[in-house]
Amino acid sequence: MNLDNQKILIVGASSGIGRSTAIGLSKAGARLVLVARTENKLKEVIASCEGEGHTYFAIDVKDEKSLDEAITASAKGEGGAFTAFVYSAGQEGTVPLKFAKSEFLTDIVQVNTIPALLITKSLMKKGNFSSVGGSIVFISSVMGSLGQPAKAAYCMSKGGLLAASKALAVELASKKIRVNSISPGMVMTDMSSKILASVSEENANEIKRMHPLGIGEVQDVVDGIQFLVSDKSKWITGIDLLIDGGYSAQ
Ligand SMILES: NC(=O)c1ccc[n+]([C@@H]2O[C@H](COP(=O)([O-])OP(=O)(O)OC[C@H]3O[C@@H](n4cnc5c(N)ncnc54)[C@H](OP(=O)(O)O)[C@@H]3O)[C@@H](O)[C@H]2O)c1
Repeated sequence: MNLDNQKILIVGASSGIGRSTAIGLSKAGARLVLVARTENKLKEVIASCEGEGHTYFAIDVKDEKSLDEAITASAKGEGGAFTAFVYSAGQEGTVPLKFAKSEFLTDIVQVNTIPALLITKSLMKKGNFSSVGGSIVFISSVMGSLGQPAKAAYCMSKGGLLAASKALAVELASKKIRVNSISPGMVMTDMSSKILASVSEENANEIKRMHPLGIGEVQDVVDGIQFLVSDKSKWITGIDLLIDGGYSAQ
């Protein structure tokens, strides 16, 4: 899947799925603009990418103004308007409801959900996104449609992404902008390693058992993202692509 002539914004690009997506999409020829908070990690990701012209912005996704300014400045600069956007920033949260404070519930959607919409809004400003259309992919989770104890906040934040991507698919179709989500099961990243390290061996084995094909690799998700940003999916919008080793088939 060739991504020459694509300029892709990847938010949450400093580690895990976002990092591997950046490296994978660069190999396919895309020019990248990366966002996360940790500057030295973003520099390392760019150094690992193939091709020229990649840039980064070290910004917290809660900082709407800085993100909006960075997007507009980048669209006016080298490579021009964006052709695709991948939202992979996210934080985990495992808190039984009786301990969940309002600040925690607000914080999780302020990182996992709301910036995906605000960044899309910023990209829709005149000149920021390709006038011939393109693709937007939100990284949700199997938890966006399935429950687990102590995960109500995380599930809420991921379910919000699923619903928003469908609504935006309909809203942006007239601009030939496709909006889809991907729902991964567990793949090995910093986030999932922390989850596995925080639970008992019995629970870790149970999480593994819930994936009939075993725990996934980041590349399994990257392949899905590459498909959804490429022209190979040009008639696909408003779907949720489950990449979960069979987790949700049970
Ligand atoms: N790994 C899995 O098994 C799995 C399964 C299902 C869904 N997911 C979802 O996939 C996405 C990526 O997960 P991952 O495993 O790759 O996690 P990860 O390795 O922890 O990466 C998360 C990324 O989000 C960025 N981020 C977090 N908070 C941010 C903030 N406030 N502002 C800007 N960037 C922020 C992090 O960068 P900085 O810390 O540098 O800011 C990092 O680049 C998440 O949305 C996660 O919920 C993961």
